[in-house]
Amino acid sequence: GAPVEANIGKIEPGQMVTFEWRGKPVYVVRRTKTALAGLQTMEPLLRDPSSEESIQPDYVDPKLRSQKDEYLVLLGLCTHLGCAPNYQPKVGSVELSGAEWQGGFFCKCHGSKYDLAGRVFQGVPAPTNLEVPPHKYLSDSVILIG
Ligand code: FES
Repeated sequence: GAPVEANIGKIEPGQMVTFEWRGKPVYVVRRTKTALAGLQTMEPLLRDPSSEESIQPDYVDPKLRSQKDEYLVLLGLCTHLGCAPNYQPKVGSVELSGAEWQGGFFCKCHGSKYDLAGRVFQGVPAPTNLEVPPHKYLSDSVILIG
């Protein structure tokens, strides 16, 4: 399939928009400062916090899993058996202590949970983080997926 241009310029902070590439859903989330601040606190609970066993291009940060902190680009396919996980942000949550999930993606097929970088939690069926597809910025508001 051909690469797909996606206009991300109108995505509000905290919002997710789904695009389609090669018949697959691609999620683009504009992360809030709060969401980004919460990511590090999740690491002890994650299976592969630095994405060593997960699929992503070399040019994305292995923990934030993005080129630009604000914009997360993921394949919307659970790495267990390929259901589309639901985006479930807890916008505005500043309770970062303890083991509680701070929001991210939840796959209701068999209960896999991912954080707001698409990183999989321990103790769920999904083996690896959500895949980051190849993508590049054509401008501040347009990315090319594929
Ligand atoms: Fe997502 Fe099984 S397909 S948990």
